[in-house]
Amino acid sequence: MHFKRKDLLGIQELRAEEIEFILDTSASFKEINHRSIKKVPTLRGKTVIHVFYEPSTRTRMSFDIAAKRLSADTYSITTSASSMVKGETFLDTIKNLEAMKPDVFVIRHSASGAPHRIASRTSAAVINAGDGMHEHPSQALLDMLTIRDHKGHLDGLTVAILGDIAHSRVARSNIWGLTKMGARVIGCGPPTLIPAELETMGVSVSHRVDEVIPKADVLMVLRLQHERMSQGLLPSLREYAKWFGLNDRRMRKAKKDVLIMHPGPINRGVELSPEVADGPYSVILDQVTNGVAVRMAILYLLGQVERQEPAMSVTEARLSV
Ligand code: CP
Repeated sequence: MHFKRKDLLGIQELRAEEIEFILDTSASFKEINHRSIKKVPTLRGKTVIHVFYEPSTRTRMSFDIAAKRLSADTYSITTSASSMVKGETFLDTIKNLEAMKPDVFVIRHSASGAPHRIASRTSAAVINAGDGMHEHPSQALLDMLTIRDHKGHLDGLTVAILGDIAHSRVARSNIWGLTKMGARVIGCGPPTLIPAELETMGVSVSHRVDEVIPKADVLMVLRLQHERMSQGLLPSLREYAKWFGLNDRRMRKAKKDVLIMHPGPINRGVELSPEVADGPYSVILDQVTNGVAVRMAILYLLGQVERQEPAMSVTEARLSV
């Protein structure tokens, strides 16, 4: 099949065969990351700009490594080191970067929908590297690749997503992706951290982690997102760890071949005990390794698409996101 999208903004809009195709393409890129010379000329002459207006370790580094391994030229801009501190709007910033003729923008922003607004105004490909509480498509793709690597398939599996689903773009992207690929998804957490729309997305809901653990082929544990929480959603971190944290005692009830996943960064001792995070069921670092291959595949596939002329006018560029 041919991948014809200009941008990668979310998993919600992808068809199952497109997801499968990106996963297959990612699998084919893995081998490059194990060579002694980890570089191919695929994107030579292309320019990738990383626009990260929220902190990131894994996503930013792996997009940068992926682009460099494909021989693209990469540049980064962050809020604190840009003219946004002088009052320039996000759209003005992008318009000015676009005038330097990049081929790809990789955008992380705290506002849901920010990459979508940019995508409709630029001829460059836009990759959503996490927008607010909305979507984190490359994370879901690397998660699905990791599950497929270990289980051989996604259809028919039971994936339990545990914890702070309300604030999680990772959860939303995974729910769209996993359900399209035929997996059963259970959402489990305290009622204050489970969004009302979850059941309409095809997810079963439970508030009892000890009842969910024995059913799961995959336990996808989420980070408690303090930075996006209003006050009063949890009594305390200690209470949360007691009722929802995964530890050795709880894991005795799990299937023998269960996978423990976490998108990172981990709050050790809160959502995962150190023994579980680093234990035999954990595939957390496999997720990180797959992140490079998945992001190489995304950059490669978007890099093949023919570009139209820029659509953003100077007037539009003055609008703020
Ligand atoms: N999983 C993830 O998005 O991690 P970073 O915030 O470190 O990029």
